[in-house]
Amino acid sequence: MDMEENGVSIYGQNQPAMNYVMQSLMDNINKLRTGMKEETGSDPVEHCLARIKSEDSMREKCERRNLPVTTQSALEVLTDAIGLRVVCAFIKDVYLVRDYLDQLPGCDIVEEKDYIKHAKPNGYRSLHLILKVTVNPKEMEENGIEEFLPFYFAEIQLRTISMDTWAALEHNMRYKHTIQGNQKLIESELKRCADELAATDMSMQTIRDMINEEVSE
Ligand code: GTP
Ligand code: MG
Repeated sequence: MDMEENGVSIYGQNQPAMNYVMQSLMDNINKLRTGMKEETGSDPVEHCLARIKSEDSMREKCERRNLPVTTQSALEVLTDAIGLRVVCAFIKDVYLVRDYLDQLPGCDIVEEKDYIKHAKPNGYRSLHLILKVTVNPKEMEENGIEEFLPFYFAEIQLRTISMDTWAALEHNMRYKHTIQGNQKLIESELKRCADELAATDMSMQTIRDMINEEVSE
């Protein structure tokens, strides 16, 4: 855990509660996966990652947004201190996980950016949700967590394997290609790859739908 020089975390005393909220979101997604595997024989999630934004990144983000570097900025103004990335094999599974999160008790979608239906100009695709997770004080106390806020935000990025592959490669090349002379060409080629992957995702979805139809006939 990285701390400021004076030993005070930008998250104050909230890390145990934040870890708890993050873990309970992961537990719920795992519940969905297990249930779907039993019910349909297939897992809607390929893999799932969770992280608490590092202290350094959070301080840097506060500064970039001209916010005071405080716990309040980190947890009540900014909404991505807790982050989950859910990677699915198929597009429909992305929306299945979204609907599942939406109906969880104490869990509200307060912001939704659908970069799948409306890709970013560079070709980036994902479904971004900001969840507001209401804390159950009793549950916190039962788990020995004394310090907590009434709620925590979490940023959930949902995407297919293809979208995840593209995002990883684009992120990897981002800082390198801006110093090249052929920047325009590189950008349009990246965009073309994103669009080709999106077309493949739609074909794969169609193939799965055909298989599922045959199975249920
Ligand atoms: P941030 O200041 O990064 O939080 O931007 P924002 O508040 O406008 O949120 P947005 O939903 O656009 O993006 C949040 C996160 O999505 C980023 O931190 C990345 O992890 C991811 N993301 C968004 N756009 C891109 C992109 O073009 N390429 C890649 N690789 N990741 C992206
Ligand atoms: Mg953001």
